Amino acid sequence: MGRHAHDITHKYFSKLEDISNGTHRDIHDTFSSFVKMTACALSAGQREKEYLEEASKWDKNHLIMFSEALSLLIREMETDPFTDIMGKYYAVVESKIVKQSKGEFYTPNELCSMMANIVLNDTYDGAPIYLNEPTCGAGQMILSSAQNIVDQGQSPYILRVHATDIDDIATQVCYINTTLWGIPCIVHHGDSLKCDVIKSYPNIHWIAVEMSKGYKVSSHEVE
Ligand SMILES: C[S@@+](CC[C@H](N)C(=O)[O-])C[C@H]1O[C@@H](n2cnc3c(N)ncnc32)[C@H](O)[C@@H]1O
Repeated sequence: MGRHAHDITHKYFSKLEDISNGTHRDIHDTFSSFVKMTACALSAGQREKEYLEEASKWDKNHLIMFSEALSLLIREMETDPFTDIMGKYYAVVESKIVKQSKGEFYTPNELCSMMANIVLNDTYDGAPIYLNEPTCGAGQMILSSAQNIVDQGQSPYILRVHATDIDDIATQVCYINTTLWGIPCIVHHGDSLKCDVIKSYPNIHWIAVEMSKGYKVSSHEVE
């Protein structure tokens, strides 16, 4: 399975490299556009304007290639549940200088699993579990927590996650990961040290949970 998963990961990222090479655009810009458009596409129509703005930067052939890259990514994710596939690529495309200034280093999956197992060592009764991730990155710590809960026979839907990151692309990757793995999460782009939120993105599972309580998601959370 490992080798198969690696091959598909390579294909997904190769597709983005093909777009980058074909348009002479930086791989970082290509990756960022892919992440933004994917996040918008998973928002169930909440982020249509943002999607169209990003899509207008590419021609039709490249948009088709982006959708092919998403298909490859999802196939890869299915072979390796609750594992962040995208964050490790962001660590590759982000420049060394930017990474060092923001403390953006890829946290190995094994380390996240170990920490999730230490923190979440209870037996769950199905009651909601609230998590706050102030430096979420791509969200591997959240995915490892969900894996821990699933291993104990519960659904990731019992999680209620507030995730924050100072880097907007990281927040979008976290949004994609939590949406695709069915984890109710509101992702904030902001500075956790200053308690400063620039923009919040509730994923569809978060909205479903809040709506079931009669809560109306305010416009500043989706615009
Ligand atoms: C080592 S990574 C975090 C990894 C993550 N916890 C995981 O599960 O893989 C550190 C993250 O902290 C973010 N960060 C750094 N300073 C921050 C701040 N003041 N507020 C919010 N996020 C911050 C970086 O952008 C980066 O994504």
